[in-house]
Amino acid sequence: MTQPIRQCVIPAAGLGTRFLPATKALPKELLPVGNRPAIQWGVEEAAAAGASEMVVVLSEGKELIRDHFAPSPALEDLLSARGKQAQLEAVRAVSSLASFTYTYQDEPLGLGHAVLCARDHVAQEPFFCLLPDDVSYGAAPVLSQLGEAFQRFGTTILALMRVTEEQISRYGSVAVAETVGRYHRVTNVVEKPAAKDAPSLLAIMGRYVLLPDIFDHLAHQSPGAGGEIQLTDGIGQMLGSGDIWGVEFEGELLDVGTLEGWYATMFRLAPEYAPKAFERAQSVH
Ligand code: G1P
Repeated sequence: MTQPIRQCVIPAAGLGTRFLPATKALPKELLPVGNRPAIQWGVEEAAAAGASEMVVVLSEGKELIRDHFAPSPALEDLLSARGKQAQLEAVRAVSSLASFTYTYQDEPLGLGHAVLCARDHVAQEPFFCLLPDDVSYGAAPVLSQLGEAFQRFGTTILALMRVTEEQISRYGSVAVAETVGRYHRVTNVVEKPAAKDAPSLLAIMGRYVLLPDIFDHLAHQSPGAGGEIQLTDGIGQMLGSGDIWGVEFEGELLDVGTLEGWYATMFRLAPEYAPKAFERAQSVH
């Protein structure tokens, strides 16, 4: 059996321009989703998949993310003195989810560059990568499904979801050659193709198992779609030295990286997190 994966790289350096002015001071990863910030969902998902160390890539001005995951002794003392046990446990749980290492991306050069910024903090072994713009909701966390695929194939693993022709240009798209149940062997990857150029409607969904060789490719990668250094292009280079498999995962991945998606996710989660508000909203019609 392949060694379990210990580390998860979480790129959180983006400027959050889609949410301005809400994200002028607040990192978009701290916007609430249900009862906790979006990035906490990601960390919980990675921890559930077995990762014990999160390597978070920030940009200047996003230090509140560090604060969120750091212990808060003063707050804990206050909650304890007031007998607020449930809140105390919730606060303590956040900082004990995993260990955290932070690194910085100094210029917004793209997702591939952000992942490259984590290089010095990642051991020479396979690691997870999770984009906190989507939250996994459902019985089996998406990253755990990728971890299982890695145990089976031992290769780079991508999360895949079938999207529509109108949607594919927002994503990386893959060509596949061989299908085993929910697993597809990937033979090509194209970042944000026009619908007519997309190799398929299977989109890459922001969850990855990456091998350490990816860093060499990213370091030499020229800018691609949107003039940015793309993770997808680095992954494409990996095809030169081994197989890549994709998992058409089960369960839901809810978009919280766009205003539309964030609202749709709020409605989706309302019955669980705000049942009374949900009932009231239903009865208005
Ligand atoms: C990134 C990746 C893209 C992937 C997408 C998933 O794009 O580059 O391949 O399909 O995440 O959300 P971004 O959304 O950062 O533009």
